[in-house]
Amino acid sequence: MLKILDCIDAGSEYCPCHLAETGECIMCSQLQGKTFCDCRSWKGVCIYQEFTNNRYQKREQRQSKLCHILHREEVSEELFILRIKTHKDMARELNVPGAYVFLRSSENADYYDTPMSVMKVDEHEGTITTALQIRGIKTKALKNLNEQIEVRGPYWNGIMGLKYIKGLRGSKVLLVARGVGQASALPVAKKLVISGNKVTVILDKGSSGIFTETYFNELGCNIVHKPLLEGKGFKIPQETLEYMKMRIQEDEIKLVFSGGSERLHEGIAEFLLSLQEKPYFTCSNDAKFCCGEGICGSCHIRLKDGSRIKTCKTQLNPFLLYEGRINL
Ligand code: FES
Repeated sequence: MLKILDCIDAGSEYCPCHLAETGECIMCSQLQGKTFCDCRSWKGVCIYQEFTNNRYQKREQRQSKLCHILHREEVSEELFILRIKTHKDMARELNVPGAYVFLRSSENADYYDTPMSVMKVDEHEGTITTALQIRGIKTKALKNLNEQIEVRGPYWNGIMGLKYIKGLRGSKVLLVARGVGQASALPVAKKLVISGNKVTVILDKGSSGIFTETYFNELGCNIVHKPLLEGKGFKIPQETLEYMKMRIQEDEIKLVFSGGSERLHEGIAEFLLSLQEKPYFTCSNDAKFCCGEGICGSCHIRLKDGSRIKTCKTQLNPFLLYEGRINL
């Protein structure tokens, strides 16, 4: 049986999507084949009504567009930064925490599409900036691009726990970011600073180097350098955990964001669950995205209660994601 969950695309111009046509809508009980309305998270529109008004069809979905690369910066052997010219509307829609796009060389087929966090946006110029780490076949195919690139978007589910980031005002926040995970942390810091929060960032260069320090400084964040994962087991060092505990207790930190790998998120979740006063936990969405549309199944995870979740579409409390994997 399908569960009613929070879909990132609900109420957007891309809703209803393919899932409504196949009886798999994440939010609407009637579009899951039931005969009653069980709407629990109102997004300003009735998805069922939108579907019927659209003659029982999905809305037009996101398409790839060929865009110009304006600037390329090499950070390390395995990481480079691209500034890409897109449509101004697209740039505006991507100017939020959790935004990402699929990138690919125009010489390759659609299945080379690879998701990349949007690190910076210039709405006026209509540009987006992304950091690309060379890892596997898809990212190697992007390695030598200098002029043009296929961009598909906008997508928004690059962060879990977005409602906590959007709702926090006038508080203190701790961001931890490692390696290429720094890219997803930057829009989070920007949103939190705009909302009057004081942000401390713990940075670890990981395997890709530090490439965000200037930007965090421009936002007025307090930056600390500490190792976040070490050893063969990729554990958070005790000294870093003690530092985080001290900051959380002395500064009355209300929210912690983790930008990096699943190992880092698991370590942070385990640490936060051990505290008496738990801040909100948010993290980058590190699932493997292929389509981004809830179709291919590559991003599916199983929660502790056995239910399967499409993480490219579904917003979840990160504690729910990691509680089943932590030995408490
Ligand atoms: S990425 Fe394809 S279903 Fe989520």
